[in-house]
Amino acid sequence: MMKSYTVIRVALLLAAGVLVSACEKPPITTEQHGFRGTAMVKVANPRIVAEQAGIHAVPAALPAAPQEGQKASEVYQNVKVLGDVSVAEFTRIMVAMTQWVAPQQGCGYCHNLQNLADDSLYTKVVARRMIQMTQTINSDYKTHVADTGVTCYTCHRGMPVPANVWFAPEPQKHATRMVGSKGGQNTPAESVAYASLPYDPFTPYLSKANTIAVNAKTALPNVRVGSIQATEDTYALMMHMSDGLGVNCTYCHNTRAFSSWETSTPQRVTAWHGIRMSRELNNTYMDPLTQTFPVHRLGALGDVAKVNCATCHQGANKPLYGASMLKDYMALSAAGAMAAIPAAAAPEAPASEAPAEPAAEMPAEAAKP
Ligand code: HEC
Ligand code: HEC
Ligand code: HEC
Ligand code: HEC
Repeated sequence: MMKSYTVIRVALLLAAGVLVSACEKPPITTEQHGFRGTAMVKVANPRIVAEQAGIHAVPAALPAAPQEGQKASEVYQNVKVLGDVSVAEFTRIMVAMTQWVAPQQGCGYCHNLQNLADDSLYTKVVARRMIQMTQTINSDYKTHVADTGVTCYTCHRGMPVPANVWFAPEPQKHATRMVGSKGGQNTPAESVAYASLPYDPFTPYLSKANTIAVNAKTALPNVRVGSIQATEDTYALMMHMSDGLGVNCTYCHNTRAFSSWETSTPQRVTAWHGIRMSRELNNTYMDPLTQTFPVHRLGALGDVAKVNCATCHQGANKPLYGASMLKDYMALSAAGAMAAIPAAAAPEAPASEAPAEPAAEMPAEAAKP
């Protein structure tokens, strides 16, 4: 009798061990983020924060270069975007771009070293468009990136291909057990933080502009704003957003009413703009580059690598914890530097398909603890 109890006890202990080890090891810290009593706290694990410190460290800026003197366009043959900056600043930006994107490979990653004006390498053609994309983010999306802005480093972090990009997934080979489930459901995937939600939250929202909604706005008649599929997709996107920023749902929502802007935090408004910005980057910049990339860089369905929240954020609520590298490289933002760009490069203002600019609906006092 005793013996079998011991066996059960040991078995239970082992099972508990397995369960506990599947969770994060303590300590866990919490920081109040919303009104008292709303359980709006930011949960962090100092051990994991410390482990990730390296990814979020900011490289030192190169010494400033003289802004006077001849312009790049006056000296070089094939400068289409950065023509208005001084030759010294242009060279400084080339050195910085090399450190940010191709430190191991050097100038030759983008250039035919026999002729720097030559555009024969796809990497140079892509990089030119990337400069324009970066300028657009920094000048047209201050609603999201503020004056902090971004540089190539925000996404690339010393690698030619950013660590976090997405492709359209291949269609599922096997039917899932759930009747009527589509969109790659019930296959726990990293893209949705291992939830059994549709594993491609990106195509519907960061490429297409599907409805992000789950609730009916009125009890009677109960008119759903979003379909069941939209509901599944919405939660999948929210899992990605939380995971990509390293925060929980309450960083943006008061969970009493997810849809209510009045009780949401200001961060939710920033996120709203981030969704539009990411979509714009994918549609205006990444997608048209598909033919420029070699086939081995494309996804299973032949699409180009695209941007999501994690491409810039990499698990931090603000990329690089809010440090601004842009302030040392203003040519990556300045409207002046845009003067040389053909009109086609300037994308239209993002279409606001949302009920109204949520910023306008947000009372200034909302969600102050
Ligand atoms: C990540 C890609 C990339 C890397 C790495 C890079 N460049 Fe460039 N380079 C470009 C792009 C794009 C242009 C064109 C810019 C424009 O059109 O405004 C350019 C243009 C130039 C030009 C002007 C050539 C001409 O006559 O038109 C020079 C000079 C130059 N780069 C030097 C360098 C040097 C030196 C390095 C290494 C320290 C370097 N580049 C590294 C992408 C790169
Ligand atoms: C918002 C994120 C983001 C920013 C900012 C960004 N890039 Fe990129 N970049 C990407 C993505 C996504 C790709 C596609 C990855 C791939 O090559 O398949 C890419 C690809 C590239 C490539 C092609 C690399 C290869 O090996 O295929 C080059 C070169 C490049 N970027 C240069 C730059 C430069 C230079 C800047 C700054 C002026 C910059 N990028 C800013 C996201 C970004
Ligand atoms: C970084 C901020 C942020 C985080 C974190 C976040 N959300 Fe959201 N959520 C938003 C934004 C912004 C919208 C509105 C999107 C739009 O309309 O374009 C939204 C919309 C929603 C909606 C739809 C509300 C409606 O109108 O029907 C639900 C439900 C939701 N979120 C749930 C969640 C859940 C669950 C989590 C955690 C897994 C979460 N959110 C995490 C920002 C966030
Ligand atoms: C091009 C890079 C980039 C992309 C892509 C991006 N963000 Fe951001 N985001 C930033 C930068 C830079 C800041 C910091 C702005 C500042 O200093 O106030 C920021 C700030 C935020 C904040 C405010 C955080 C805080 O603590 O106040 C939220 C929320 C946010 N982003 C959500 C998102 C979501 C959600 C997505 C994807 C739908 C996204 N971002 C995509 C660059 C990006």
